[in-house]
Amino acid sequence: MYYFDGSSRRWTSLLTLFCILCLLITPAVSVKRENFKTCDQSGFCKRNRAYADTALSESRWQAPYALDPSTVKFDKGVLTGTVLKKIINTNDNVRLPLKITFHESGTARVTIDEERRQKGDIELRHGSKARKERYNEAEKWAIVGGTTVSAGAALNSDAEKGTTRIMYGPGSKFEAVIRHEPYGIEFKREGETQIKFNDRGLMNVEHWRAKVDKPAEEQKEGDEAVVAESDKEAAEDESTWWDEKFGGNTDSKPKGPEAVALDISFPGYQNVYGAAEHTGPLSLKETRGGDDKYTDPYRLYNSDVFEYEMDSPMTLYGSIPFMQAQKKNSNVGVFWLNAAETWIDITKSTTSANPLSLGIGSEVTTQTHWISEAGLLDVFVFLGPTPQDVIGAYGELTGYSQLPQQFSIAYHQCRWNYVTDEDVKDVDRKFDKHRIPYDVIWLDIEYTDGKKYFTWDPMTFGDPIGMQKQLDDHERKLVAIIDPHIKNEGGYHVVDELKSKDLAIKNKDGNIYEGWCWPGSSHWVDCFSPKARDWWKGLFRYDKFKGTGKNSFIWNDMNEPSVFNGPETTSPKDNLHYGDWEHRDLHNINGMTFVNATYEALLARDKDEDKHPVRPFVLTRSFYSGSQRLGAMWTGDNQAAWPHLEASIPMILSMGISGYPFAGADVGGFFGNPSKELLARWYQAGAFYPFMRGHAHIDTRRREPYLAGEPYTQIIAQAIRLRYSLLPAWYTAFHEASTTGAPIVRPNYYVHPGDEKGFGIDDQFYLGSYGLLAKPVTREGQEGQDMYLADKEKYYDYFDYWMYEGPTTVTVAAPLDTIPFLMRGGHIIPRRDRPRRSSGLMKFDPLTLVVVIGNSGDAEGTLYLDDGESFNYKEGAYIHRRFSYQGATSTLTSEDLAALPGKKTNEYLKQMEKVRVEKVIVVGAPQTWAGKTEVEISEEGGKSSSGTKKVPLEFHGQEGGKAAWAVVRDPGVQIGSGWKIAF
Ligand SMILES: *[C@@H]1O[C@H](CO)[C@@H](O)[C@H](O)[C@H]1NC(C)=O
Repeated sequence: MYYFDGSSRRWTSLLTLFCILCLLITPAVSVKRENFKTCDQSGFCKRNRAYADTALSESRWQAPYALDPSTVKFDKGVLTGTVLKKIINTNDNVRLPLKITFHESGTARVTIDEERRQKGDIELRHGSKARKERYNEAEKWAIVGGTTVSAGAALNSDAEKGTTRIMYGPGSKFEAVIRHEPYGIEFKREGETQIKFNDRGLMNVEHWRAKVDKPAEEQKEGDEAVVAESDKEAAEDESTWWDEKFGGNTDSKPKGPEAVALDISFPGYQNVYGAAEHTGPLSLKETRGGDDKYTDPYRLYNSDVFEYEMDSPMTLYGSIPFMQAQKKNSNVGVFWLNAAETWIDITKSTTSANPLSLGIGSEVTTQTHWISEAGLLDVFVFLGPTPQDVIGAYGELTGYSQLPQQFSIAYHQCRWNYVTDEDVKDVDRKFDKHRIPYDVIWLDIEYTDGKKYFTWDPMTFGDPIGMQKQLDDHERKLVAIIDPHIKNEGGYHVVDELKSKDLAIKNKDGNIYEGWCWPGSSHWVDCFSPKARDWWKGLFRYDKFKGTGKNSFIWNDMNEPSVFNGPETTSPKDNLHYGDWEHRDLHNINGMTFVNATYEALLARDKDEDKHPVRPFVLTRSFYSGSQRLGAMWTGDNQAAWPHLEASIPMILSMGISGYPFAGADVGGFFGNPSKELLARWYQAGAFYPFMRGHAHIDTRRREPYLAGEPYTQIIAQAIRLRYSLLPAWYTAFHEASTTGAPIVRPNYYVHPGDEKGFGIDDQFYLGSYGLLAKPVTREGQEGQDMYLADKEKYYDYFDYWMYEGPTTVTVAAPLDTIPFLMRGGHIIPRRDRPRRSSGLMKFDPLTLVVVIGNSGDAEGTLYLDDGESFNYKEGAYIHRRFSYQGATSTLTSEDLAALPGKKTNEYLKQMEKVRVEKVIVVGAPQTWAGKTEVEISEEGGKSSSGTKKVPLEFHGQEGGKAAWAVVRDPGVQIGSGWKIAF
């Protein structure tokens, strides 16, 4: 969310005035850059960039790390040893324990620790009580599976001198070649190098050392004296080792310098993706200057970045330190498991295979340099070869996305703030009056009594239960915000308990930390503590959080945490958490622990009540690897400006390929007032966000869809209805994400990994496995859209069946009421076409199947259905079908994909017995059907005695550029049973 000060508010109103005068101007407010560090202002980033510059510019540079061969042991898939760091100009070595684990899944993990810190054999300054070890609990939060150690991994006795080689992975096709001196690793797939560690010698583990106070005089002389060459080498820049100031705050750094850094190269790979969350293009840019390149590294340090800027490597609210590299038909990746502030430099270099070939056969290598302030050097390596192999393996480790409740993938209506319970009920009625579906209405911070969470303002929300009853009449839900800052006010039961039970984040001296947030003076619950999470759980019980009911869910905002008077608007790094870890060690995980506690709380409140919990829904702003297991995220406080609409698409695609597909951006833009055109276009794009929520700042004009006026209201309503009609496809895509980690909206490279031309495309995408290709309009006044069709396949306009054929770029008409949206041949798309007030009311609606015939003449698609709210699907209460159309025999069949039936299968199938297919539309129907008038249908266990029945077929011939199509109305087959339709 949103904090503002007087000046930006004035800015906004001035601009609003200006906009009224001149409709072409959009609010151009921008981030307060000076509130956030550049690499140069972040001591460890600056030190490591300088280290890199030295290493790369000095020809006689020798990386000072060596694996001591006498320490190497390999046993049952795990290699251990000691890497020695040479201290320049001494004979001393720092011992760094190395562990390389080879997993059954084909993933390798390389972990480097520091022996002295591991043993706690260091001294802290300032009498700090902080833990002495490097933070080693990130895995506890991020990793949930995929760590079975490989029995098949084996030492290759053929290793050249000075190396150790391990064969591993599926069919032993992978290999890790570990070079002893300087230490480095090459990861190979089928003999070809894919990833290199420390190839450029930038690895750096800042070991513990005692602070030596030099006499002031000597220091001064040293600065001025001409130092001998050897001394110069030894002279490291210590200015940021012991404390660091920024924006009026001082970080006491009791552990001294402790950064870890490593260069990771992807030879032959031109594109890298991931490292979410940033506003730039999906294919990450270079970061060390030059035309259209960034000058700062990509930064990962979860922050409340107010009025964030476009096309920037600046940090945002969440971090996923997972990166993929893509070249033609090959994808590999790394996951940097570290929760501290992290920066990533990216550069590319071109090498020519043959110096005389002038670019032909030249190869681009992408080099990355990862730098974290503290913690272990801990990296997972994925060798692909497909994007799904890599994303799937990452998902196996960090967990797949939650299978959300169906309502949560429908449309959400939010604003800061609906002012009273009557206001909420009025908005609810107006949606109905204008026949616009919606599922959820949201309450921002103003519903509380003085920003005290778990309370209601008695003046404005006197009857929250009555309000929820009205919503429940149409199966609608309420989401209320609960943030981690707890108002520091006597007599407020939540803060009283937080203090008396000692569950808050502490300052560096071990006393309760106090900072400033929405309520003014506040304390922060420390959800790293199991006791705190347990206490948090109790707060959501229906009898504790009075006024909430079964159809209320939670929004966790400000969980980076946002601290208005903290350094970079967040917690001081020397604050202390449960287990005496410093905040710096675990900062990027903080937000996830809070959502974890809320998720568990929502589960618990139902368990206490009736033992039948529904799936929790929690929206979060801050996140880390693993947050996908807990709920949805959104991209925070964007602006009602065209560039923000445009940027939302690569941002959401980036989340999808980062294992966190349940992502959205505020529809309409948070700050400022969108023009009606922008609002309409935003809804059209939002209909394709996995998480679709309209939201607006408190200073903006009301903009519920029905207020837009015609034609805008109808255009927006159409976009929302399109979302509702495709909910069966969306839900199936969510199911796929929850079982394989596959993205829900998919960029071109993911779908067509052999198509190099499409690797940079991030303004169009496919929905699920359905071949549905969308490219929403994101520019003002644009009436046509160029769409890139990657493959030799037929594509049809979703709405009027206009035909296109790839590979090519086509221009699709896009007047304001139209979304450029195509169907790729070869797929079958499930829909529910009856307009309803909410998705809950569609539960027993019949389905329409759209068979899209492609070049092969065949088509296929799947459908997953369950009750959309409970966990009964885990006991078999679901329907999972595959529909296939065979061109050769002109038959459409439905077959079961469900695993073995469970305890609740029959009961669910019985409930769904009346749910049938009400229509089959065949797009690109063969011309030979022109004379046909009926189709023959047989259904398994069919009731008709003959076993088959005949149903009319309507055929529409090709017209101009529009494909022929046919329709079978009411084939009468059940969605949950096996059947066959012969055309
Ligand atoms: C929440 O965190 C705890 C502790 O790490 C873990 O045991 C639990 O499974 C997590 N809950 C969810 C829903 O991920």
